Amino acid sequence: MTLSKTGQNLVQITDTHIYGDPAARLAGTDTRKTFIEVLDLICSSHSSYHLVLTGDISMDGSEASYRWIFEQLKSLNQTYSILPGNHDSIEPWGSIFSEVSSDFPTFASVEPWKFVYLNTQVQNEEYGQVCSESLKFLRSHTTAEDASFLVIFMHHPPFSVGSKWIDKIGLKSGRDEFLRIIQHPKIKLVVSGHVHQESQIEIGTVKLVTSPSTCVQFKPYSDVFALGNSNPGYRLITLWGNGEFSTEVVRLT
Ligand SMILES: [Fe+2]
Repeated sequence: MTLSKTGQNLVQITDTHIYGDPAARLAGTDTRKTFIEVLDLICSSHSSYHLVLTGDISMDGSEASYRWIFEQLKSLNQTYSILPGNHDSIEPWGSIFSEVSSDFPTFASVEPWKFVYLNTQVQNEEYGQVCSESLKFLRSHTTAEDASFLVIFMHHPPFSVGSKWIDKIGLKSGRDEFLRIIQHPKIKLVVSGHVHQESQIEIGTVKLVTSPSTCVQFKPYSDVFALGNSNPGYRLITLWGNGEFSTEVVRLT
């Protein structure tokens, strides 16, 4: 696929935290309901896009949660990609999300852009890592002799958001090397979830962003766990053929 002059829309949703049991709630929130509300908002705002789910898709890693999510995604009739967060269990993915890769790291080309999907999960831990295989993969795509611009998707953000308890469960290893590798003109944008809030920084010419959850939000700059009062939402990213892009967060009203 080649990008048109009018731009290609990517939509990121993250931290959907769906339970296998429809009656379960996360801090009192029906995560299935807010997920559908966010999807409805996306459907009413955009006719064509590629959807990326950046982890903590399930709250309990259950097959039932993934089957329910699959049905919602199928009904959108759009292409999508998924990658795992600390709450996810990749094992059932192959038989449920059979059209998308559940082998990581992986990538997709939408010329002249490349989307790189990393798995930052550490089994049974809330914190994450950028493993040596991911670093090697990223290095090879950065130095490859093609004209691609890269967007990297990963659950745990490679930067601190200024909230002690959240930053403690960030990337425990591989972060410094990751930040060295992305200092390259090809890398344009790094998109993460995990922190249930919108944030952004720029390192050199690379923009790094996090996005709101489709369910509960965390209070920014809090030293201890606390919920925020902003609404669930998604991130829209529009990519152009010359390597430029724009991005914004859109929330339920
Ligand atoms: Fe997470």
